[in-house]
Amino acid sequence: MMNPLIPVVRKKQRKKTSATEKKLTPNQQNAVRLRTIYQAKLLKSNITIDLTPDDILLEQIEKANVDISSACRGGNCGACQVKKISGKTITEVEAGLSDELKQQGHILTCTTRLRSNIELDI
Ligand code: FES
Repeated sequence: MMNPLIPVVRKKQRKKTSATEKKLTPNQQNAVRLRTIYQAKLLKSNITIDLTPDDILLEQIEKANVDISSACRGGNCGACQVKKISGKTITEVEAGLSDELKQQGHILTCTTRLRSNIELDI
């Protein structure tokens, strides 16, 4: 039971804020984005390449001198498709990919950017 003569000191509850919850200015957000590096493991080629979140996957695979087909470079022909084994990506246009291939995990590298480390069957 509490003694009414002794004042109760309550700790002020501070909301814990993680780094990602902090409010960043657009310039700070851009700086964080530019410093982020993801890795794409090309399993069959036994190569790992580094990409920023802005890098187009196809361009970086080509820079690594890995043999990959391409044609339209706009997500329409399907020539650059590869199977993604793991990881998060965003693809702007994927008209050249059938629903069946999408369900099997294939992506179009010409319109894809990384949002995590990934593994590809190439
Ligand atoms: S090169 Fe045509 S869809 Fe990627």
